[in-house]
Amino acid sequence: MKVIEIDHIRLIQPLLATLITSSYKNDDAIMTASWVMPVSYIPPVVAVAISPERYTHRIVKYSGEYAVNIMTYEYLDNVHCAGTISKKNYPDKFIRVGLTPIRAKKINSIVLKEAIGVLECKVKDTLITGDHELFVADVIYAYINNDKAYSTHWIPAYYKPLLYISEGHYLTIDSNTVKKMDMPTEDRD
Ligand SMILES: Cc1cc2nc3c(=O)[nH]c(=O)nc-3n(C[C@H](O)[C@H](O)[C@H](O)COP(=O)(O)O)c2cc1C
Repeated sequence: MKVIEIDHIRLIQPLLATLITSSYKNDDAIMTASWVMPVSYIPPVVAVAISPERYTHRIVKYSGEYAVNIMTYEYLDNVHCAGTISKKNYPDKFIRVGLTPIRAKKINSIVLKEAIGVLECKVKDTLITGDHELFVADVIYAYINNDKAYSTHWIPAYYKPLLYISEGHYLTIDSNTVKKMDMPTEDRD
């Protein structure tokens, strides 16, 4: 088989395309992030890798807080916009992105009204990994904004995740491909 050397990240994608929101003083930031992952079950901890070049990086750094807004496929245009323009060049980024900022429930940040789910997080540790900085954060509050879409997990008939492959390619899942398998009782995932 022919071996092709490519960017390592391309092989790990698709990843969920989320929106990170964060506020510091009266300044709100929003950016698309795929490099988001859980890093502990108990306590609940997540991490997001943000390049220091992002406007959002500064806001997360100063505030020590961020929200991970889970967006569905119907918001592809908005998410793509948030991931392709910077507040550094577009102070009216929120208007351009076209989503509705509302106050978070447990942190001093904004979150998005259109998010189907939200993780409100407080940064507990950071690590410069290379050209990105990892913001490891306690999940202070996690909730959903659509009762039909979630029971003990997302219900694929109602939840169309927004996934990103790379180079502008997004996709969602076809619920016909969803299969329920038996799980050992001790296994939470
Ligand atoms: C689908 C997608 C995923 C992205 N994921 C990340 C990410 O995980 N970390 C990051 O630093 N930038 C990521 N970006 C790039 C930022 O969203 C982009 O540079 C954005 O314009 C930053 O906005 P800001 O400067 O206003 O914070 C992603 C972009 C797209 C389109």
